[in-house]
Amino acid sequence: MKTRVLPPTAENLQKLGQALRKGQLVAIPTETVYGLAANALDPRACQRIFQAKHRPTTDPLIVHVVGLEAARKLAFFGNSATALARAFWPGPLTLVLPKRLVVPAIVTSGQATVAVRAPSHPLAQKILRAAKCLLAAPSANPFGYVSPTKAEHVFAGLKNRIPFILDGGACAIGLESTIVDVSNPRGFRLLRPGAISADDLSRELQQVGLPHEIKTNSSSRQVFTPGLLPQHYSPRSSVRLVTKISTNLRTNTPPAQALVFWRQPANPPAHSCFWLSLRGSEQEAAHRLYACLRELDERGFAEIIIERAPAYAGTLGKAINDRLKRAAAKKSDH
Ligand code: TXA
Ligand code: MG
Repeated sequence: MKTRVLPPTAENLQKLGQALRKGQLVAIPTETVYGLAANALDPRACQRIFQAKHRPTTDPLIVHVVGLEAARKLAFFGNSATALARAFWPGPLTLVLPKRLVVPAIVTSGQATVAVRAPSHPLAQKILRAAKCLLAAPSANPFGYVSPTKAEHVFAGLKNRIPFILDGGACAIGLESTIVDVSNPRGFRLLRPGAISADDLSRELQQVGLPHEIKTNSSSRQVFTPGLLPQHYSPRSSVRLVTKISTNLRTNTPPAQALVFWRQPANPPAHSCFWLSLRGSEQEAAHRLYACLRELDERGFAEIIIERAPAYAGTLGKAINDRLKRAAAKKSDH
């Protein structure tokens, strides 16, 4: 199968919408990362996602919707879920909710809950409207590899395995959505950190007078969420995390090692030196992180030594460090 990368013309959006409705796969841009979309209510279309990504069917998919009204067709929204959707949608927040019968088992890996999100990217919204269906979409990368933030990343990973990629340029945020499980009224749980923090969610719930505790301790998690296993989001090069790249590392680094600074250093070492942001902006670092890991991986560095986000980097810094920790985890850490 030849993969076509299409610019977002009105004609292409209609064509891709139709392709999706008929059960074909289309990689689409969102504000977080590119997603590999299929008609969520068509089990055979969803099956193709797992095949193209080599993703185990035990790893459930996120369903993308235009907004709350559409989401109610596939999940039961309590007061808290409604409040969070009203406050943060469209945007980088995925809610895990009790599912309705219409949702095929393949989407949820047989679980009683479904993950739902309304993306804010204008092209994601346009394609949802053109397709006139709900879209199941995991990140558009081979299973276990770094998520794609540009159409060319999708092409590099999935070429000849999917028919279409909608090119919407670089994703604004660059890290996957925050996932919160609100399916159990006895306790909400943050499953994946992202651009929206547990505190943001908690504050919103408190403001509207609802129970607002959100557990962030993942060790007691009962839901199976494979994207949260160690050793996910991994490049082939090994990744080593450091708080600060030392003078010793700066001066004694062999060319096979890449040094990645949080921000541009004053006196960069002569070779193999990179940085996530010019002046230490967490938005810029998040936006560039995956493209940077991919580039260094492609250049064949044996090891990537990378600085963690500092404490001042806040919510995005925490999300960056979560992904870096997973990228650095060895298979043996499972
Ligand atoms: O930003 C994002 O969320 C992107 C864009 C495309 O929307 N999507 C994304 O999908 O990152 P994916 O499949 O790469 O990661 C979704 C995570 C997986 O770890 C999956 O296990 C978890 O969400 N998940 C999906 N359904 C779930 C459910 N019912 N309960 C718990 N976890 C679930
Ligand atoms: Mg993924």
